[in-house]
Amino acid sequence: MVCIAYGEFGNWENHCFYNTVSPTAKKPGNKLPTPGCERLSFAVLEHSPKDKLWHSWQAYSFVEKQNILLDVTNLKMHFPIRRGFLRKVVGHVRAVDGVSFFVREGETLGLVGESGCGKTTTGRLILRAYQPTSGQIRFRRNGDLIDLATLSQKEMKAIRRDMQIIFQDPFSSLNPRMTVLDIVGEPLRLHGLAKGADLRDQVRELLERVGLRVQHMNRYPYAFSGGQRQRIGIARALALRPKLIVADEPVSALDVSVQAQVINLLEDLQQEFGLTYIFIAHDLSVVEHISDRVAVMYLGNIVETAHSKALYESPLHPYTEALLSAVPRTDPDHVPNRILLEGDVPSPANPPSGCKFHPRCRYAQRVCAEQDPPLVEHKPDHYVACHFATELILVGMTN
Ligand SMILES: Nc1ncnc2c1ncn2[C@@H]1O[C@H](COP(=O)(O)OP(=O)(O)O)[C@@H](O)[C@H]1O
Ligand code: SF4
Ligand SMILES: [Mg+2]
Repeated sequence: MVCIAYGEFGNWENHCFYNTVSPTAKKPGNKLPTPGCERLSFAVLEHSPKDKLWHSWQAYSFVEKQNILLDVTNLKMHFPIRRGFLRKVVGHVRAVDGVSFFVREGETLGLVGESGCGKTTTGRLILRAYQPTSGQIRFRRNGDLIDLATLSQKEMKAIRRDMQIIFQDPFSSLNPRMTVLDIVGEPLRLHGLAKGADLRDQVRELLERVGLRVQHMNRYPYAFSGGQRQRIGIARALALRPKLIVADEPVSALDVSVQAQVINLLEDLQQEFGLTYIFIAHDLSVVEHISDRVAVMYLGNIVETAHSKALYESPLHPYTEALLSAVPRTDPDHVPNRILLEGDVPSPANPPSGCKFHPRCRYAQRVCAEQDPPLVEHKPDHYVACHFATELILVGMTN
């Protein structure tokens, strides 16, 4: 059973659930079904005198439905800034500053935001390339959700088989001194899963599957184009038959014509191997077709998460609205009305007060500079962090 602090889930879910509970059932310890709630199987009422919300004495323990593969809660990565001869810590880069999201098995979550907003750091934290400053990274293994943030590097080794990364730059991510056979076969060798002729056969199969010529397996990366190199990276990521792949801007460095081919390949492989993806991109046009849900990041925080259709058609956060206005349209009658975001993303070493987006938000009011809006579930599965999410009428892709 997993206990989640009240409020972290978003109020819609808790509110609706609470209203369905009969007054006589509202007793601590009662286990109750959660009808209409996609994410949770049942809830257990708990006594919580510290709860400051409207039903002041109760909180809930929730048990998640089986299909959550990854559940990230309040994840932070504050890199220390060191100065001087003694390398004294003089501040912190808040690259990831309290990120919460989940990914269901077999789905693709698009993670989108301008450069520098913390997408790569979030991806690397999930794979435990960094030790997080705080927060939970719960990953399903053998039926249980285990918190990766608390595991040692030794304990992580077995779990790494289940999680792989595809890097942004296919030119620098492959070791130039290794042949394709060595690059794709290395994970199998390191995990002691194959050697000799067997390893060769497995690499051959992987190369065929990603559309590369088997005869080229003794060549070095320089002999391949950008798109082909990205296919080598994908074959390597697939070698251990992972459950989750973090694809960090896998097509950003490729020509537009090649981008679609690589995205189609990733979609085919997802079907064939039952993969779950976190697909990172810096604009919303790339992730539109591949994502089941999209999370929008700004300066170390997630500001909106929703199913793709809801997010593209009816955004609730002004930053999402601005990103959507930059997506190219195929409709010849569409009149472009691009919202220009003034200035660059502020420094995560010195983020603005209150809502971090307020210096660039055209709807900002005084409260925005004073109070940080929490990420709240305004509609089922649609989470937003904006003080005026229910009042603003924002423009999406269909209007
Ligand atoms: N190892 C590091 N040490 C210090 N700062 C870092 C480190 N890695 C990333 N950053 C900073 O964290 C912020 C987020 O970076 P990153 O996660 O790469 O963003 P994105 O992938 O969205 O472009 C940036 O300001 C970046 O300079
Ligand atoms: S809280 Fe205020 S500044 Fe932030 S997105 Fe909403 S309206 Fe804009
Ligand atoms: Mg990045």
